[in-house]
Amino acid sequence: MKRTYIKDLHEAVGKEASISGWVDVRRDHGKLIFIDFRDMTGRIQSVALPNNKEAHEAASKVRSEWVVRATGVVNKRPEKMVSMKNKETGEPEPNGDIELELKKLEILNEAETPPISVGTDGKDIGEESRLKFRYVDLRRPRMQKNIRMRGKTIKFIRDFLDREGFTEIETPILTKSTPEGARDYVVPSRLEHGHFYALPQSPQQYKQLLMVSGFEKYFQIARCFRDEDTRSDRQPEFTQMDLEMSFVDREDVMALNERLLIEIVSKLFPEKKIQEVPFPRISYAEAMAKYGSDRPDIRKDKDDPNLLAFCWVVDFPFFEKTDDDPLTGHKGWTFTHNPFSAPKAEDMEKLMAKKDIGDILATQYDVVLNGFEIGGGSIRNHEPAALKKVFEIMGYEEDRIDANFGHMLKALASGTPPHGGIAWGLDRLVTLLLGESSIREVIAFAKTGEGKDLMMEAPSEITKKQMRELGIEVKKKK
Ligand code: AMO
Repeated sequence: MKRTYIKDLHEAVGKEASISGWVDVRRDHGKLIFIDFRDMTGRIQSVALPNNKEAHEAASKVRSEWVVRATGVVNKRPEKMVSMKNKETGEPEPNGDIELELKKLEILNEAETPPISVGTDGKDIGEESRLKFRYVDLRRPRMQKNIRMRGKTIKFIRDFLDREGFTEIETPILTKSTPEGARDYVVPSRLEHGHFYALPQSPQQYKQLLMVSGFEKYFQIARCFRDEDTRSDRQPEFTQMDLEMSFVDREDVMALNERLLIEIVSKLFPEKKIQEVPFPRISYAEAMAKYGSDRPDIRKDKDDPNLLAFCWVVDFPFFEKTDDDPLTGHKGWTFTHNPFSAPKAEDMEKLMAKKDIGDILATQYDVVLNGFEIGGGSIRNHEPAALKKVFEIMGYEEDRIDANFGHMLKALASGTPPHGGIAWGLDRLVTLLLGESSIREVIAFAKTGEGKDLMMEAPSEITKKQMRELGIEVKKKK
């Protein structure tokens, strides 16, 4: 018999249907055995009656999380047995008014007693166990919903940007260190001992090079890697919705992003309410003075879980003072966001003259949601001479500029359109849209606070042979 998805069982009332899935809960009342089944589309209660010996026997044998195929008649439940809400979670139960009367129950795979329960929302279980047995943890309806909504959000972004004329382009994972301000993850080269690839902290340079190549509108759902301490809104590998556009100014990029964010909310999360449209704009100076933060939480009602208060933060200082140089005792300068940003037009003269450095404002714009930075971008310095000034202000010597950024300066000198873009922290955005408290709740296989994958047990040692091939020796800690 052809499989019916559990969500479609209403259409089979009064008829026989066959479903495939997992045993969710089993309640043995001796004569009557009730089993709730689960597949990717929903849940259904079934009952095994003693007059059907074979099905009753199988029903008394199965346990939670066994995988089965169940065939039976779909019946309307008696009025007083109707229950359209899950008693444990309060979630709707669309099949609360029907029931499957078991005729046949085939066991497709037995399961050991689950290491963690999937009957709750999981918040009662230690996170280490949830991450270690993630394949089971992901079965709980909350995680199923989170991961599916993440997928739907990505699909929505892809369709929107495709309609807007963007091309999705993959950029390398094995690449060279980029100055995004965090520590790199590095990969040793087998063919050139002592040389290393770096995993990208973002596709920043590649997307700018794609503008040089004439693609004009690029985007990517891009995996990024940063070796920094993990927090509830940070993972060592995370996903950006990364985009770049040519022949645009700040307003063009901000308007497109605002439109996309509003459409995601209204189409996929209609229960949410955006506090203010157009998104208010706050200068960095005002944000710091009024909220003491450059990612202000401007919600008017912090008790409303459905309120989304987006805002843009603009007019960031381009440079900030670094700590004293231990050798010279001098304070230097470093970039606050992105060395490839352009200064605001009125500050270009200061950059070129390298004067009043602390007063130079960047074209940087950050998008903030309920107090979290969910994205940031800028218009770029497409003039090689101006980009070079940025590195000079940061105290880079000529040969270091050449070694690290020679390719960018050369590319910019090959006919580069004015361009700019943005990257969203996709995990962060989805976390907030789903009302979750940690990005680990929207990442299928998340890492712990210490950057460990407890399920795969990574990082781990490699074999002596691998080390020899890579020309690597490990100094054991004494
Ligand atoms: P930035 O470094 O601001 O900009 O990163 C963009 C957005 O990515 C998110 N984010 C993170 N999310 C989870 N875990 C992390 N460790 C993490 N680090 C950053 C944040 C942030 O706003 N290339 C530039 C973008 C551009 O200028 O176009 C960049 O990467 O939400």
